[in-house]
Amino acid sequence: MIPKLIIHGGAGKRPPSNRQREIQKVLEKLLEAAYPVLLEKGAVEGVVSAVGGLEDNPLFNAGTGSRLQADGKARLTASLMDGQRQRFSAVINIERVKNPIRVAHLLQDEMFTVLAGREAMAVARAKGFRPYNPITKERLAEWQKHYKGEGTVGAVAIDSNGNISSATSTGGRGFETPGRVSDVASPCGTYADKLVGLSCSGLGEDIVNVALAVRVAMRVNDGMGLKEAMKLSLKELEAIDGKAGMIAIDKEGNALCIYNTQFMSYAVK
Ligand code: GLY
Repeated sequence: MIPKLIIHGGAGKRPPSNRQREIQKVLEKLLEAAYPVLLEKGAVEGVVSAVGGLEDNPLFNAGTGSRLQADGKARLTASLMDGQRQRFSAVINIERVKNPIRVAHLLQDEMFTVLAGREAMAVARAKGFRPYNPITKERLAEWQKHYKGEGTVGAVAIDSNGNISSATSTGGRGFETPGRVSDVASPCGTYADKLVGLSCSGLGEDIVNVALAVRVAMRVNDGMGLKEAMKLSLKELEAIDGKAGMIAIDKEGNALCIYNTQFMSYAVK
């Protein structure tokens, strides 16, 4: 199997064209940085490295540069699924951590793989994650205007052994009710098994209402082609006026991105 990596910088409103070019350039650069990790260490490490890089870039609504909830706090959510082990792990609404995806990674080998809030932060601290403020001036200015949006980052990979993994990270919708939980907290937003992996973006409530990533994956597991499964599932999302996008890779190495938002940035290698 030729290893493949697809990453996204979120689905949502179309940014101005100079911003689009900037986003694309950053995505290509981060893809080049993460691909060798996929080659050397496999799919799980590959997607964690890609999403870690995306979290570190303030252009995207994840990690540094996350949107703030209505009370002015950045609560970050990230999830990881190892398709080979069929194991999902996540941190939900964690605060003051630089890379939530790395905390989710660490939880892969724990008995309890999904942790939320202060308790998630306490576990991260105990494991050596230092306090970090992910709030940027730009996001603070957005919050002051009560800006609501969307945005997520994600990655899906297949490695040389044919193992598939996916990862997603987000700061959420912006100015949402404090404690609101994103689709990224569940397999609706991040899913992988032995046949397919997906990472979603868009309006989390819509993604949860159709269990988007799982919906596509179950179709692929039942024998439908990846493209058809993604298209049909997006059509069903549209039937409830949902807005989202997703990236995916199947066991044949097909890598696809589809969305019904104005825009979704992605790159594939
Ligand atoms: N899809 C990201 C969110 O709604 O939180």
